[in-house]
Amino acid sequence: MVIKIAIILGSTRPGRKGEAVARWVYEIAKKRIDAEFEFVDIKDFNLPLLDEPGIISQGQYTKEHTKTWSAKIDSFDAFIFVTAEYNHGIPGALKNAIDFLYREWNNKAAGFVSYGGTGGVRSVEHLRLVMAELQVADVRAQVTLSLFTDFENFTKFKPAAFQKQYVNTLLDQVIAWGRALKFLRTQK
Ligand SMILES: Cc1cc2nc3c(=O)[nH]c(=O)nc-3n(C[C@H](O)[C@H](O)[C@H](O)COP(=O)(O)O)c2cc1C
Repeated sequence: MVIKIAIILGSTRPGRKGEAVARWVYEIAKKRIDAEFEFVDIKDFNLPLLDEPGIISQGQYTKEHTKTWSAKIDSFDAFIFVTAEYNHGIPGALKNAIDFLYREWNNKAAGFVSYGGTGGVRSVEHLRLVMAELQVADVRAQVTLSLFTDFENFTKFKPAAFQKQYVNTLLDQVIAWGRALKFLRTQK
């Protein structure tokens, strides 16, 4: 069973470091033959601050941007979130994009790649709580990239060599759970 996995770039600000990180993850992922991958940049969806008046968990969408975002997320079996750490949490743009939808996330798997002064670990702890409410199964393996050791002068992304293996371990776990949950969804 070949599943489809989105690599979701969660920061949208001009000059974001996240783009280089997400592209690196995507390049590693693309070499695998046990899943299909797509690069999903939240910025491309031009989502405003949540502007749906209806009940999100019932899919009551009125806006074209919501419908486009919904169709995109619905098409995946699992997610790799690439997230920065903003004030010990996830970027507001990522939380906003997550909040736009509900069912599209349910009963799918997710893994995290984070970066920051302490590898973005606090943002991922935050994100794991959000995933619980969305019924997303988040795997244990995690890639944490340090601004001190995986970036040159805190700017240019230059990951330590061992990080690539961590990406593949993360993908192993997300693919295994993503397959299991796809089976569960198709049994309903
Ligand atoms: C609003 C804001 C808050 C931040 N808060 C933290 C933080 O709590 N911990 C941390 O390690 N880095 C923090 N940083 C530094 C970010 O890790 C760093 O700027 C990183 O490049 C942000 O990701 P981005 O470039 O993809 O937006 C913060 C940056 C911003 C813009």
